[in-house]
Amino acid sequence: MKRLAVLASGRGSNLQALVAAQAEGILGDCAIALVVSNRRTALALDRARAAGLPTAIARLGDFPTRSEWDVALDAILAAHRVDLIACAGFEMILGPRVLAGYPLRIVNVHPSLLPSFGGGLTAQSDALSHGVKITGCTVHFVTAEVDAGPIILQRGVPVFDDDDVATISDRILREEHRALPEAIRLLADDRLVVDGRRVRVLPALDRTRSL
Ligand code: GAR
Repeated sequence: MKRLAVLASGRGSNLQALVAAQAEGILGDCAIALVVSNRRTALALDRARAAGLPTAIARLGDFPTRSEWDVALDAILAAHRVDLIACAGFEMILGPRVLAGYPLRIVNVHPSLLPSFGGGLTAQSDALSHGVKITGCTVHFVTAEVDAGPIILQRGVPVFDDDDVATISDRILREEHRALPEAIRLLADDRLVVDGRRVRVLPALDRTRSL
């Protein structure tokens, strides 16, 4: 059973979706072992405590440099024997230490169809102002380049004429809540094969077949 850390900065609805997926037994061969936030008051931490999950806080401001924050976060993850990491509304860019420790083991959910509207925290309003007719969410591997790692899966949603940032964000979020647990399940079950920028999904093992 792999140990999953969820990194979250705010509301934590994607964390909640992962907690629900685990309870339903659809998170694959992994269990949430830790929730880390860079904000003491993150609602995600309350949700984690309510679910009985261990929590940790790694605030950039508590360290003299970003590189020391990176090392401290890496130590927290190691202390909890983490195998996989999900960035679920995590506003911080991970540092080289954490990235090197978990190659192709860190995923992020982003509220747009990458490579459109990446690189920031305003993807939904950027998509609206650009006038796209379809947007959505992307779950991708985290690499040193922000929002640019190989794409695991995407889900599209329509943009309607009367949408505002709140309505389009809600519609995307509902898809995020399905896409992130699905991507974690595929990763935990070793079903993702990365070939350059392309990620192929292996068929599910038929566990009823004897070897
Ligand atoms: C989600 O929409 C997530 O995709 C987005 O923050 C929100 C967090 O919601 N992340 C980014 O924009 C990262 N660039 P949540 O805290 O309720 O899961």
